[in-house]
Amino acid sequence: MDSSLGGCGMARLGICVVLMGLWRLGAACPAFCTCSISRIACVDPGQGIEDFPILTLDDMEMDINITDIYIANQNKLFDINDNSLKYYSNLRNLTVINTSLTSISSQAFNNNTRLQYLNLRNNNLSTLSWRTFQNLNITSFPLLSGNPLKCVCENLWIKLRLQEDVESPEKEDLKCIDDRGKRKSVSRISPPDCEPPAAEVSPSIVTVKEGSDVTAVCSATGSPSPEIVWNTENLFTTAVPNPYGTESRLTLTDLSPSDNGRVITCNVQNVVGQSEAELQLNILFRPSILELLEPMSLHHWCIPFTVTGNPKPELQWYHKDQKLHEQEYIKTEIQESIGSVHHGCLQLINPTHIHNGQYTLVARNEYGEDSKVIEAHFLLPPDEETDMPYYPCKYFRMILSFR
Ligand SMILES: *[C@@H]1O[C@H](CO)[C@@H](O)[C@H](O)[C@H]1NC(C)=O
Ligand SMILES: *[C@@H]1O[C@H](CO)[C@@H](O)[C@H](O)[C@H]1NC(C)=O
Ligand SMILES: *[C@@H]1O[C@H](CO)[C@@H](O)[C@H](O)[C@H]1NC(C)=O
Ligand SMILES: *[C@@H]1O[C@H](CO)[C@@H](O)[C@H](O)[C@H]1NC(C)=O
Ligand SMILES: *[C@@H]1O[C@H](CO)[C@@H](O)[C@H](O)[C@H]1NC(C)=O
Ligand SMILES: *[C@@H]1O[C@H](CO)[C@@H](O)[C@H](O)[C@H]1NC(C)=O
Repeated sequence: MDSSLGGCGMARLGICVVLMGLWRLGAACPAFCTCSISRIACVDPGQGIEDFPILTLDDMEMDINITDIYIANQNKLFDINDNSLKYYSNLRNLTVINTSLTSISSQAFNNNTRLQYLNLRNNNLSTLSWRTFQNLNITSFPLLSGNPLKCVCENLWIKLRLQEDVESPEKEDLKCIDDRGKRKSVSRISPPDCEPPAAEVSPSIVTVKEGSDVTAVCSATGSPSPEIVWNTENLFTTAVPNPYGTESRLTLTDLSPSDNGRVITCNVQNVVGQSEAELQLNILFRPSILELLEPMSLHHWCIPFTVTGNPKPELQWYHKDQKLHEQEYIKTEIQESIGSVHHGCLQLINPTHIHNGQYTLVARNEYGEDSKVIEAHFLLPPDEETDMPYYPCKYFRMILSFR
């Protein structure tokens, strides 16, 4: 009896949650639309919607997860703006057909990275920007037929994208209207003064000493003249771009070793599309030992160090001021290199008391050198133990206490 009551209670609770969900949805779902937990559909031409239905974030938290929006026959719907779809981050399918849709903002789909299917047929779109679709990962090109697309430069990207998209159902018959009002196949358009942008950076790689100044020039081609933007974010070195006409000169002052290996991109954009070129920094600098630590017992004994320098420094160890001759039992191992920072060990296999004492690491390249000293104790003084292999302190104390 208890259990049947409990079951019933749970079932009621469940129904209650679902009903609340539907009630909340009902409140947010526009009249003349139907909303479910995953789909919004507005097909009734009656009153018509003027904006995209926006379910509030409160609704979204109630397990409402819209993956499909279907809008048709709405003659008061004119645009998809930056905010229309931003809350629908799980949206997969978007259909907007037979509406007055005239413009789509370039950020309209910024938050809809999962969008896979986009049907925009039979609307009032005359131009569309490639920027609107740039971050989308749609499997096939948006369906666009039945729009009064113009055969203008702004729409040339559609032709270029259709050429790449082998499977698009619109490949052959997407039409545009030229300036004499004639319908033409989009695949045939070639507007005057209209070319995709391209960029070239010269030099594309610079190899110079730290502290030097460098200038690189990014030249753009394409029509209309592209906008040129150097991406110098997160750079340690001061970088000043100086655009002039179809070029932009980038001046780097006092190159920082921290920027060694960095790639700076030059991005060029016009209405037809975008392109990039790269400048790679190879900054030469003197070695520096960032870390030299006391020995630790890993798989073998290890004196850990971190060095940097470009070119990669030569390493030489000294034991009590004597040059250390590396061999199988004592050798330098580089374990990880991240850019020009190298982490490694002086590895010692079964060191004995003769290996105790001062270790000096010297790192050298043609631009200079650095050195650091560390004290190492692998064994007890010989009067207490003769040739016992070393045990880390805590084991050693245990052994002593057992005596
Ligand atoms: C929303 O639905 C999609 C597809 O059914 C699923 O992959 C995703 O994990 C869901 N997200 C949430 C937050 O429930
Ligand atoms: C397109 O939508 C209008 C209302 O905006 C409607 O009257 C018309 O029947 C629709 N056309 C089609 C082919 O569905
Ligand atoms: C994008 O969607 C997420 C998840 O729904 C939301 O938290 C976020 O605020 C949205 N971004 C914008 C810019 O609205
Ligand atoms: C998206 O639309 C396509 C084509 O209409 C359909 O096959 C698919 O099931 C839809 N996917 C979702 C998640 O609604
Ligand atoms: C279609 O768009 C044009 C502008 O491109 C506008 O003048 C016209 O009013 C629009 N038509 C409808 C039915 O919205
Ligand atoms: C694009 O989609 C493919 C397959 O659906 C996926 O493997 C890939 O990670 C996606 N890329 C991005 C940037 O979302």
